[in-house]
Amino acid sequence: MLQRLFGKKDSRRRGADGQDGTTVDDSFIHLHNIVKTFKTAAGEFTVLKGINVHFNRGEFVGVIGKSGSGKSTLINMITGIDRPTSGAVWVGDTPVHKLSEGELAVWRGKNLGVVFQFFQLLPTLTLIENIMLPMDFCNMYSPRQRKERAMHLLERVEMEEHAHKLPTAISGGQQQRVAIARSLANDPPVIIADEPTGNLDSKTAESIFQMFEELVSQGKTILMVTHDSSLAKRVNRTLLIADGEIVSEYVAQALPMLTHQQMLALTHELEPESFQPGATIIQEGSAGDHFYIVTEGVCDVVLHRPRGSDVVVSHFTIGQFFGEIEMLHGGHRRATIRASEAGPVKVVAIDYEKMCQVLGESEQTRDAIERIAKDRIAENVAGRES
Ligand SMILES: Nc1ncnc2c1ncn2[C@@H]1O[C@H](COP(=O)(O)OP(=O)(O)O)[C@@H](O)[C@H]1O
Ligand SMILES: [Mg+2]
Repeated sequence: MLQRLFGKKDSRRRGADGQDGTTVDDSFIHLHNIVKTFKTAAGEFTVLKGINVHFNRGEFVGVIGKSGSGKSTLINMITGIDRPTSGAVWVGDTPVHKLSEGELAVWRGKNLGVVFQFFQLLPTLTLIENIMLPMDFCNMYSPRQRKERAMHLLERVEMEEHAHKLPTAISGGQQQRVAIARSLANDPPVIIADEPTGNLDSKTAESIFQMFEELVSQGKTILMVTHDSSLAKRVNRTLLIADGEIVSEYVAQALPMLTHQQMLALTHELEPESFQPGATIIQEGSAGDHFYIVTEGVCDVVLHRPRGSDVVVSHFTIGQFFGEIEMLHGGHRRATIRASEAGPVKVVAIDYEKMCQVLGESEQTRDAIERIAKDRIAENVAGRES
C-alpha cells in the first residue's frame, strides 16, 4: 500500500564502503576529522573523536550504538543543529561547518528533512500548517502551491482527512507520519532521522520504517539512528558508534560477540592490505603472526596435496576471517589463502598479540572462533585426503 503511495520502486545499489576517507563513487555527505568537545562543569568532554565517513547518494544508513555513544551528536553535525569543534562537514558542495546560523537555517530547510523521536510538530499549528511551515520559511513555491503540496504530502502519508486537526488530536504514530510529510515539504535529497520509531509500538514502527524504505527507493539518502536491531538489519549499511568513534563494520560482522568497546579496540589495530587477483595472502607452511578479516573480494583456500596439484577447498568472502587456527593452536599455516582470480582482495590484518588480548576478555568469542577452527581443520584433513 505504501508502495502505491510513494510510487514505483527502483533498485538502488549498495554504496561502497566509504569509511576512513577512501574515495568512493557518488559520495555525497562527507564528515572529515570531526571532533566535538562539550565543556561541562566537570571539565571538557570529547564526544566525537575524529570521525571520518562518507555517505553515498541513495544510501539508507542505520546509525547504531549504545546510549550516550554519540549518535545524536554525530547526525547533529550534518543537520547543523550542533557544530563541530573541529573538522569539516560537506553535503554535496556545501561546507556545512562554514555556514552562518542564518545560512544554515535556509540551507537545512531546503536540503534536509529532519525527523525526531518525539515528532516535534508545532502544537499550536494544524497539521497542514505544520507542513507548510518549511515552505513558508524557505520561500519555496507560491502560497497556493504550498497548500496544495502540503495536502498532497498528507495524502502520501494517509493523513489527509486530519489536515485541519492539531497535533494533540492524533496518535503518536500519526504524528510521526505528519512529521515525515513535513520533512518532505521542500523535497530535500536527504532525510536525517533520530530514533524516529523510538517512541512507537512495533507495528507503527514498521509502517514508519516502510515509509523510509520507499523514500530510499525513490532516491532519497537517509540516515536513521535506531535502537531497534531488527530494523538496523534491514538498511543498506550500518554505522556502529562506540565511545564517539566508528567501529569497523568488518570487525562487527566477523566478531559479533565482542562488546562494542572490544570491537573498537580491534578497530584501532587494523592493518589494511590489498592483493591482486591470484596473489598469495598467507602461505601454507609459513609462520603466522596475524589474523585476517576479508573486506573486499573473495579468497580461495588452497591445500597442497603431496601427490597431485593444489586444490581449492573453500572460499572466504567479506566479513569472514582466517588465520585463527595458528593463533589458537600455534605452528605453521595450515593452508594457503589466495586472492581469487575473479578480482582483487582487501583484508585487514590484526596482530595475534592484540587479538589474544581481546579474546582473553571474551570467552564467548574465543569459543566461537575455536568451533570454526575445529571445523576448518576437519575440512582441511578431508580436502587433503580426497
Ligand atoms: N550539549 C551537551 N553538553 C554536554 N554533553 C553533551 C551534550 N550533548 C550530548 N552530550 C553528551 O555526549 C554524549 C553523547 O550524547 P549523544 O550524542 O546524545 O548520544 P546518543 O545519541 O548516542 O545516545 C553523552 O554522554 C551526552 O551526555
Ligand atoms: Mg541520541
